[in-house]
Amino acid sequence: MFRKAMSLALSEAEKGLGKVSPNPMVGAVLIKNRKIIGKAFHKRFGGLHAEAELIKSLPDKIIKNATLVVNLEPCSHYGKTPPCSLLIADKGIKKVVVSTKDPNPLVSGRGIRCLENRGIRVVKGICREEAIEVNRGFFFAQMEGRPFITIKYAQTIDGRIAFPGKKRYRISNFSSLIYTHTLRKYHDAILVGIETVLTDDPLLNVRHVDGVSPLKVVLDSGLRIPPESRLVRNEEKGKVIIFTSKRTGKRKIEELIKLNIRVEQVDEQNGKLNLLQTVNKLKESGITSILVEGGARIITSFIEDDLYDDLEVCISPKILGEGIRATADHFKVPIRYENQMRLLKIKNISNDVWLHYRKIKTINIMEKI
Ligand SMILES: NC(=O)c1ccc[n+]([C@@H]2O[C@H](COP(=O)([O-])OP(=O)(O)OC[C@H]3O[C@@H](n4cnc5c(N)ncnc54)[C@H](OP(=O)(O)O)[C@@H]3O)[C@@H](O)[C@H]2O)c1
Repeated sequence: MFRKAMSLALSEAEKGLGKVSPNPMVGAVLIKNRKIIGKAFHKRFGGLHAEAELIKSLPDKIIKNATLVVNLEPCSHYGKTPPCSLLIADKGIKKVVVSTKDPNPLVSGRGIRCLENRGIRVVKGICREEAIEVNRGFFFAQMEGRPFITIKYAQTIDGRIAFPGKKRYRISNFSSLIYTHTLRKYHDAILVGIETVLTDDPLLNVRHVDGVSPLKVVLDSGLRIPPESRLVRNEEKGKVIIFTSKRTGKRKIEELIKLNIRVEQVDEQNGKLNLLQTVNKLKESGITSILVEGGARIITSFIEDDLYDDLEVCISPKILGEGIRATADHFKVPIRYENQMRLLKIKNISNDVWLHYRKIKTINIMEKI
C-alpha cells in the first residue's frame, strides 16, 4: 500500500517539472482506512509545499488520524512558507511515510525529529531510489555544491559525432531526437560550445514533447555568436546566458544585453573558459542540473575537469569514415576507479542504441543520501 501511494506521490511530484527548481519536486498523498483520499504537489518555486497544498484541499476532520505519504522529509524551518512538520502535527496526522531525508542543512533530519517528538510515527525509505532519481539535481547540488551534469552526444558506429568543417549533419534518427527533448526537459540548463552554435544554429529548446524549455547556455570566449543566430533571435528574456572571457570588450557585451541575452564573464584557464567558475555561477542562478550537448571540445573539457556525472551516448547505425570524434585524441583523465562508470540502462530507439552511464563517484555520493 505504501509503495503504491509513494509511486502516486512521485508522479504528482513530477507535475512540478520545470517549475519548481531549485526546489525539489514533491508530491504528497493522504491515506485513510486503506483508501487514497487526496493528492497534491509543489506547483511553483516559492509556492506552497506539497504537504500544505494537500492539507489545504481537505477538511480538518478528514485529515485527522490519516497517513501522509510524501517523497521528501517535511521541512522544519520557516522559509518562504511555514514549516510543514508543524502543520502536519497540528492537523492530527498520525503517520508519515517518506522516501528520503532532505539533505538541505536547514532540514536534514529535523523535520522527521519534529514529527517523532510530537508522537507521529515516521516510516522511512519507501521508493528511496526512485525518489532520489526524480530529484537527482536537487540532491546532488545540496550535497556537492555543484549541479548534476549529464554529457550527451550522438555518434556513428565509427565514433564520429560530426563531419569535419562546418557541415551540418544529424547523426541520430527522429525517435532519438524525441528522446533528446525528453532529456532536455529533465534538466535546468542545456550547455553547448560556440562552434556548435556556428555550425548547427540550434534552438536548444523542448519542442517535440510537452515540457518547459531549460535555460540555454553557450560558452563563447570572444562573443562570436551572431546576433542573427536562432538562439539570439528566438528567445524570451533571461532564457539564454552566454559565458565569455573577462577580456571581452564592453561594447560587444552591451549589444547582446540589448537583445535580451544575459552575458556572464569568467576567468580563462589554459586559453579556455574556466568551467568550474561557469558551473558555480549557474548554481548561483538556481541551476541544479545541466545537460552538456557538445561539441567535442566542450565534452573533452568537461571530462578533463572531472565535471560530469552521467553520460548519455547514442550510437547510430551509420559510418562516416571521416569527421570529429566525441573527445580529443589526447587529453588528461585521472585514472582512478572512481572515474569509471557503471552502465545504468541500454535502450534501442528505432535502431539507435542509447547507453546511459553514471560515474562510480557519483553513485557513491548518491548512496549517502
Ligand atoms: N553528434 C552530436 O551529438 C553533436 C553534438 C553537438 C555538436 N556536434 C558537432 O560538433 C561540432 C562542434 O564541435 P567542436 O568541438 O568543434 O566545438 P564546440 O565544442 O561546440 O565548441 C568549442 C568552442 O567553445 C569555446 N569554449 C569556451 N570555453 C571552452 C572550454 N572550457 N572548453 C572547450 N571549449 C570552450 C571555444 O571557442 P572560443 O575560444 O571562441 O570560446 C571552443 O573552440 C559541430 O560540427 C557540431 O555539429 C555534434
